[in-house]
Amino acid sequence: MINLSQYSAIFIANWKLNGNFTFLKEYYDKLKVSSNNCTVICPPSIYLKSIKTNKENLYTGAQDVSFYNAGAYTGELSASMLKENGIDFCLVGHSERRQYFRETNESIKIKCENLLRENMIPVVCIGETLEQKENKLTEEILFTQIKKSIPNIANNKNCIIAYEPVWAIGTGLTPTLDEINSVHELIKNFNSKFKNFKVLYGGSVKSTNSKDINSLKHVDGCLIGGASLKVDEFNTIIS
Ligand code: PGA
Repeated sequence: MINLSQYSAIFIANWKLNGNFTFLKEYYDKLKVSSNNCTVICPPSIYLKSIKTNKENLYTGAQDVSFYNAGAYTGELSASMLKENGIDFCLVGHSERRQYFRETNESIKIKCENLLRENMIPVVCIGETLEQKENKLTEEILFTQIKKSIPNIANNKNCIIAYEPVWAIGTGLTPTLDEINSVHELIKNFNSKFKNFKVLYGGSVKSTNSKDINSLKHVDGCLIGGASLKVDEFNTIIS
């Protein structure tokens, strides 16, 4: 398993449903990975094997994994299939999966267990909606998500948390820097087990705000959607 503690920051590009062969080639030709950070690119799964790179500290991640391990489940990809194909990371429970594909904390927990059993690193996404934030439910929502979606076998060496306020994803809106730092602190203080977890921030991260966000005490990197599709911008974020 990759040693996460060797990295001062972790940057994950979530391409979502974007990309093609031309895009992929140009992207990897231009991508500049920094030596003390971990960079993970999560393309649509059909392209996971098309990425051939021997750059150090650069990894590939899946955007999702099946709840099932094998059997008659048309259209699914299991954790062992991802692992066999050299994939080390996998996003789990992204808010778009929770919203459009009806994923629940319970199914996310099983996906995490499947990945951990294969020595892959789940990146568990948690976050509150705007309505929940306005009703001061952020802490309650996040604690429920942590409690129900992160399995007991997860720890700071084999699992990453990504805090992504749902209202900040793809909107250009972000919490204030103080809010980000204190929510990350809250997550790490959930109980002693989470103290040394890597907690990434996601939601409208761009080259113009990434430096400030990453310099926050409790932020260990970022999960980047839209801005990760522009390689020059992504290079600035990870530099
Ligand atoms: P965004 O997406 O950077 O476009 O806001 C982040 C994410 O969905 O992971």
